[in-house]
Amino acid sequence: MAKTKSVFVCQQCGNESPKWTGRCTGCNSWNTFIEELKITNSTSGRHMVAQSKDTVKPRPFSEVSKEDYKRKTSKFKEFDRILGGGTVPGSFILLGGEPGIGKSTLALQLALHSDDKILYVSGEESAGQIKARAERIGKCNDNCLVYNETDVDKILIQVKNVCPSLIIIDSIQTIYTPLIESAPGSVSQVRESATRLLRVIKEMVIPVILIGHITKEGSIAGPKVLEHIVDTVIQFEGDHNLNYRIIRTIKNRFGAVPELAIFEMGQKGLSEVLNPSSYFLHSNINNLSGVTITCTIDGYKPLLIETQALVSTAVYGTPQRSATGIDIRRLNMLLAVIEKKGGLNLSNKDVFLNFTGGIKIQDTSADLAIIAAIVSSGSDKAIDAKTCCCAEVSLTGELRPVSKIEQRIAEAHKLGFNKIVVSAGHKELEKRNGIEIKKASSLIDALKLIFRNT
Ligand code: TYD
Ligand code: MG
Repeated sequence: MAKTKSVFVCQQCGNESPKWTGRCTGCNSWNTFIEELKITNSTSGRHMVAQSKDTVKPRPFSEVSKEDYKRKTSKFKEFDRILGGGTVPGSFILLGGEPGIGKSTLALQLALHSDDKILYVSGEESAGQIKARAERIGKCNDNCLVYNETDVDKILIQVKNVCPSLIIIDSIQTIYTPLIESAPGSVSQVRESATRLLRVIKEMVIPVILIGHITKEGSIAGPKVLEHIVDTVIQFEGDHNLNYRIIRTIKNRFGAVPELAIFEMGQKGLSEVLNPSSYFLHSNINNLSGVTITCTIDGYKPLLIETQALVSTAVYGTPQRSATGIDIRRLNMLLAVIEKKGGLNLSNKDVFLNFTGGIKIQDTSADLAIIAAIVSSGSDKAIDAKTCCCAEVSLTGELRPVSKIEQRIAEAHKLGFNKIVVSAGHKELEKRNGIEIKKASSLIDALKLIFRNT
């Protein structure tokens, strides 16, 4: 008979203790003890080896049959796209984001617009509150069963009774197992509850959407400790005071990453933004200094984004450098390149950088646009609003080619841009009527091309 007991284990050295202690006596590290469940099996080790003889054996690839996923599609094409074409049966999807950004709304909309049986487990809101939200969204559907419970074992009993096509857990921080003494939301509770769920749903081949709160720092116990357990991690990003929501896949065992979709929060819940590029562009940037447009790619979709910079004289001794949407170290590196290779002295200037919509840019193709926006603000010369910049800038001040340039050019062309500045490293580029493709090999040449005719 297997027995379960809970112990505290040091996450650094594996030292065990029956009680929580602040400092590990094994490795002397602080705050590393986390409660874990220990299953002791009364069967002897020898017996277990004998038992395991009939289990799965190692096989060559030729004997392995490929898994063909029958994906389920939803109301939202964009949601399906970022998952790689729909929900894979038995997949464990973690939907993370700050409180109030729209996780429950998205999950409820997916549930209400489905023809299959869905189990919506909520530990946060009462069934009545969920009904009020469903009415606000404008749809009530009896295929969606609402269940207010937080004990993971009781949830699993209902999962077996109901056999739903999709389970939504809102949220993992409220779910607990009585076998562990720590409070719901603690690392041990979150990890243990998720592992218990995972075991059952993988057997029953039911997909699960697990909602998890992340604070601004993204470090709270919960979603971060689950990232390696789950198959897919989707995260809401951006500012929840704005109307649109950016959803990004950051891990996906069944599709490409990163993929990005944009939704708009309205009076009746979330709706997809099918043409996101035009959504982020403002038509009245003509003759404004400090603004440039770049084309980034997340997944397969190109996205035109406005880059805004403000360069002003530093009031205090050390100039301030602040960036929203890119790593501050990348901004500092680009500022050093501007000083050394672009001929602009920024040593006594404050520099602020922002991308419209609070979008986070990981693509280095925005380098040239960032530099152009800073130079434009620093010299107070506006860049033509119909010019787009798309190149990585190296430490030596050279322009490097970027991936999928044809797609980026096509997107800029589609949105009415008549000039795009790219790296000379793109040797063969198809000519297009209506958009001039300007190539430059160095930052200085690129800046000349960008600021010409302005
Ligand atoms: P919610 O889904 O509860 O956020 P989370 O589950 O991530 O904590 O979203 C709540 C916010 O969305 C709240 O500020 C109200 C807003 N909202 C709308 O603007 N329109 C709507 O139709 C709904 C349902 C919510
Ligand atoms: Mg919620």
